[in-house]
Amino acid sequence: MFVIRALKNLPCEMVNLVFTMNAKGTAVHNDISRQLYSQDQIAERVAELGAAITADYASLVARGDQIVMVGVLRGAAMFMSDLARAVQLPVEMDYMCVSSYGDGATSSGTVRIQKDLGCQIEGRHVIIVEDVVDTGLTLNYLRKNLLSREPASIQIAALVRKQHEGQAPLEVRYLGFEAPDEFIVGYGLDYAERYRNLPYIGILKPEIYT
Ligand code: PRP
Repeated sequence: MFVIRALKNLPCEMVNLVFTMNAKGTAVHNDISRQLYSQDQIAERVAELGAAITADYASLVARGDQIVMVGVLRGAAMFMSDLARAVQLPVEMDYMCVSSYGDGATSSGTVRIQKDLGCQIEGRHVIIVEDVVDTGLTLNYLRKNLLSREPASIQIAALVRKQHEGQAPLEVRYLGFEAPDEFIVGYGLDYAERYRNLPYIGILKPEIYT
């Protein structure tokens, strides 16, 4: 009770800082070399993507078609929740959790489904929602996998596409940002499961991961 009362009296920025303390007790913001996309920039871009989806699917929904947004856990959790609220149409929200095999640093493109959809997508319009496209292999696999279930259509919404050499060709209909090939974290993106709760996307200091 005392903690809640004390937090209420702190400015917003300070409350954010208190809630993002890492295990060593230092603020995680200190591990970021610079912000790439601020909280406001992300909110603005997500609103634009939501408006674009609303415009694109309005006539389909009007004739009775259904939309299923498929969030890819765990990185897309924040983006999914904000994007879905920016779409002014009825949508069903479901989730998949996948992991890709690789050598630890790079993805091999072999993806294992850890949690599958709970709903059927046959005859429905699917929008896959991802946080980041790096090699593109995860989304390529997922797209093919979901296509085999015979949806009416599939499109991809990704918050960030990294400029990654040799990236698998992939049409991302709803793209938030084209990012440099840096180690980025925040707004769902992690390093060793940390930093997902940063409200912005920032570049991680190299000394944190080297
Ligand atoms: C990240 C991200 C994508 C994938 C993109 O997931 O969320 O799913 O990597 O990489 P790719 O384009 O090279 O295939 P990760 O395996 O880190 O899991 P997470 O979503 O739990 O962070």
